[in-house]
Amino acid sequence: MQIHVIDHPLIQHKLTIMRQKGTSSGEFRTLLKEITLLMGYELTRDLPLEDFEIETPLEKTTGKRVAGKKLGIVPILRAGFGMVDGFLDLVPSARVGVIGLYRDPVTAKPIEYYCKLPDVINRDFILLDPMLATGGSAVAAIDMMKEHGVKNIKFMCLVAAPEGVEVVNKAHPEVPIYTAALDRQLNEKKYILPGLGDAGDRIFGTK
Ligand code: PRP
Ligand code: URA
Repeated sequence: MQIHVIDHPLIQHKLTIMRQKGTSSGEFRTLLKEITLLMGYELTRDLPLEDFEIETPLEKTTGKRVAGKKLGIVPILRAGFGMVDGFLDLVPSARVGVIGLYRDPVTAKPIEYYCKLPDVINRDFILLDPMLATGGSAVAAIDMMKEHGVKNIKFMCLVAAPEGVEVVNKAHPEVPIYTAALDRQLNEKKYILPGLGDAGDRIFGTK
């Protein structure tokens, strides 16, 4: 199983608050944004840098800036939407695509309803969704991105189930998965245990 668990103490602390059923939607959204920013720091570790000349108040010197690597982020609606602001705080120039998918309540299979991506040429993409449960939504989203010509994809989630990791690894072995936690298993309704419940409902205050 190929997965990167980013278990920084701040992330674990914030995620534990998110898991608790008494946590309000407002607090849940804030924590999701903060964790996305902290995880984004790790996911962007390999961004290439280039040297350029600058002038400090004292002298000329060589500084560094992120080289013209183009980044795109793609939230899976609805819940992935809660991760967009956190990532854009880190990389304001990232372009944002959107993929609309929901799980059929009976079959838990993903149903596609929207896809709009920015220019994909020479752009690396990060797919955002807090929950990786059966893996059906992530696999469908990656399929859609590849159909649009996307070549380089990383997947960032908050909580992953081993079942979903296997499914994504098998369908798209070259896509690295980054998560804040690898949980125990899925229940009979395909919810993650211990998980944090329905991420979309908790973000948007729906039921
Ligand atoms: C949730 C979650 C993922 C999906 C994960 O979305 O945000 O997209 O389930 O489950 P899977 O790995 O089994 O596909 P949901 O379908 O509840 O839609 P929503 O975000 O619109 O509430
Ligand atoms: N989607 C969620 O929001 N939570 C789960 O536990 C599984 C799928």
